[in-house]
Amino acid sequence: MPNIHGERIRLRAAEKEDIPNFLRWINDEEVAENLLFIAPMSRYEEENWYDTMMKKPASEHVLVIEVKNQDNPGKFTPIGNCQFHDIDWRIGSAEIGIMIGEKSCWDKGYGTETMRLLLEHGFNTLNLHRIWLQVFAKNKRGIRAYKKAGFQFEGTFRDADYQHGQYQDVHFMSVIKDE
Ligand SMILES: CC(C)(COP(=O)(O)OP(=O)(O)OC[C@H]1O[C@@H](n2cnc3c(N)ncnc32)[C@H](O)[C@@H]1OP(=O)(O)O)[C@@H](O)C(=O)NCCC(=O)NCCS
Repeated sequence: MPNIHGERIRLRAAEKEDIPNFLRWINDEEVAENLLFIAPMSRYEEENWYDTMMKKPASEHVLVIEVKNQDNPGKFTPIGNCQFHDIDWRIGSAEIGIMIGEKSCWDKGYGTETMRLLLEHGFNTLNLHRIWLQVFAKNKRGIRAYKKAGFQFEGTFRDADYQHGQYQDVHFMSVIKDE
C-alpha cells in the first residue's frame, strides 16, 4: 500500500539506511528515558532486530515518521518511528509503540498526529478492534499526546518497571474501534 499521509507527516516503510537514525535515537539518554531499553544498543544488535522484524508480517513492520519540509513539500525528514506489536488477529487487538527521536520535534503535535494516523490505519485497514499501549506513569508528554489522539486510561500496573534504582508504575491506555 502507499505511504500513510497526514497533514504534516507521513509514515513510510523502514529501510536498512534508517538504522543509523534508529540507533542514534534509542541511544539518546533523554529519548531512552521513557523506553524499555536496559542496555546501550550496538549497530550489530540493531541490525539483528531489523532483520528479525522484517521477517514478521508486514502489518508489524516498523514505520518511519517523516515531517513534510515547509519549503519543499515534496521532501520529508525522518523524526522517529512507530509500530504495531504482537497483533492478535482472533481478538483484533494490537499494542502500539512510538518514538520521536528528534528532540527538537517534541511538543509540536507530531506524536498526536502519528497516533491518529496509526489508529485510522489500524481500525480501517488492518480491521483491528482494540489498540493499546503502555506508558511510564512519569511520561506526562506521552500520556497527554495519547489522550489527545483518543486513548483512554485503562489502569496501572504498580511497580511494573525498574529504573534509576527505583520501581515505577506503568499505565495502560487503549482505544476501541467504535470510540
Ligand atoms: C512521547 C512522544 C511520542 C510524544 O510526541 P510529541 O510529538 O512530543 O507530543 P505532542 O506534541 O503531540 O503532544 C505533547 C503534549 O504534551 C504536553 N507536555 C509536554 N511536556 C509535558 C509535561 N511535562 N506535563 C504535561 N504535559 C506535557 C505538550 O504541551 C503537548 O500538549 P498540548 O498540545 O496540549 O500542549 C514523543 O515525545 C517521544 O517519542 N518521546 C521520546 C520517547 C517516548 O517517550 N516514547 C513513548 C514511549 S510510551
